[in-house]
Amino acid sequence: MIEQALVFVENLAFVSALRNSTFMYPLVNAGHIFGVALLVGGIVPLDLRLLGLWRHYPVMVFVDVLRVTAALGLAMAVVCGALLFATAASDYAGSQLFQAKMVLVLLGVANALILGRVLRRLDIRSLPMTAVMPVSLRGGALLSLVVWVGVLVLGRLLGYF
Ligand code: HEM
Repeated sequence: MIEQALVFVENLAFVSALRNSTFMYPLVNAGHIFGVALLVGGIVPLDLRLLGLWRHYPVMVFVDVLRVTAALGLAMAVVCGALLFATAASDYAGSQLFQAKMVLVLLGVANALILGRVLRRLDIRSLPMTAVMPVSLRGGALLSLVVWVGVLVLGRLLGYF
């Protein structure tokens, strides 16, 4: 049943066209990488600020700007990643590297949602600017760093295994 659905996706006209296109496939791949760049480029400085770097800059500046940057990047990576997946759905679905990558993406999204709730509950704007962040935030930031870098590395490895 799942196998049939994957083959059906692979055989969709626009997916076949994408797979066989000299320009579109690399363009979608570039879109995926651009999304990854925005996501990781937003997440890394935000998490490092939560972990205690650059404490002379207000934490909410990092949160307000970089959260949106990272969310836009994730949306782009997911849309372009789904298109790349569709071109060889059966192979990717059977790959343990790909499965591990998807588990980490879900973990990263869940962790980001929880971090967002903790930030709202703690009313972080009222803390002194140079305050060390509560341990719940620092733990979440560390997990976020490890998970998103892990997703990036697994994504790159997919091309080799
Ligand atoms: C639902 C979300 C995603 C899907 C379905 C997806 C899917 C894919 C697919 C199918 C490939 C092509 C692998 C190959 O070379 O055969 C790929 C490559 C890659 N992905 Fe993702 N991806 C997703 C999210 C992400 C995220 C969030 C990151 C980074 C944090 C990421 C990082 C990468 C990297 C670095 C590559 C290698 C690109 C290259 O070397 O050309 N992906 N992804």
